Amino acid sequence: MKHTKQQVDAARESFDAILHTPSYREIHGDDDHLEALIGLIDVGDKARLLDLGTGDGYVAFEMARRWPSRSIVGVDIANEAVARNNTKAAELGSSNAAFHAYEGVWLPLQNRDFDGVTCRYAFHHCPEPRVTVSEMSRVLKPHGIVVLSDPIPSPLDEEGFIDEFQRLKPDGHMRFHPQQVLIGMFDAEGFDLVDSFESSVRFPRTVDARYEALLEGTPDSVRDAYEIEIDGDRVMITVTVVNALYARRASG
Ligand SMILES: C[S@@+](CC[C@H](N)C(=O)[O-])C[C@H]1O[C@@H](n2cnc3c(N)ncnc32)[C@H](O)[C@@H]1O
Repeated sequence: MKHTKQQVDAARESFDAILHTPSYREIHGDDDHLEALIGLIDVGDKARLLDLGTGDGYVAFEMARRWPSRSIVGVDIANEAVARNNTKAAELGSSNAAFHAYEGVWLPLQNRDFDGVTCRYAFHHCPEPRVTVSEMSRVLKPHGIVVLSDPIPSPLDEEGFIDEFQRLKPDGHMRFHPQQVLIGMFDAEGFDLVDSFESSVRFPRTVDARYEALLEGTPDSVRDAYEIEIDGDRVMITVTVVNALYARRASG
């Protein structure tokens, strides 16, 4: 549990320092991706939607804007981002959007209160992923759906290069889960994968001796799988993202 708190504290500190910056949005924003992801959400007109790991509310504000009759709740560990989001919601007059901070594992939300959960680029930070899926299940109504968008490791990356690479930046990265592992976690909570599409995200890191050592020891096949390019003190890397719609199996 101490380990969990340390991971969450590292993620909070790192994300609260960057979530409001233009360069963060430049790297993590992708309007085509947002459109396609929102296209997976299949819920009723008066639905309540939870955006887990909402960050600066990239997904949550778009859902609130396009669906005034649906109510959107964003949850994140990043307290300052959450406060900023609530200020922004008030400024925009987005009365159907509200944001809450939490401690990173147990959702401060009632049972069976939501019709859908979205979670974009945040699940790999969750220190107890199986508990997080169980928490999603708990807060969803019986017909609830989950739209999960998260990077996956390359099948060629058998030594766990990508997680090692990501952990060189202290932002609470836990693990990119292979798609079969994700399907297994949702299956255990009674959800089936019903739709999915792949996309990708490309981002930079500033190279130092640790990156150099890791990259030097990494086979070309793995470097190529992540389209790694080094230019001066900058390395660019691309990761495949799986965007998945899970729906609860009809019981019995
Ligand atoms: C890469 S950002 C994605 C933000 C937003 N969903 C988006 O699409 O731009 C990752 C987010 O996950 C949040 N996060 C980190 N650990 C978390 C946890 N244990 N539970 C929920 N969110 C977490 C971070 O604070 C950050 O806002």
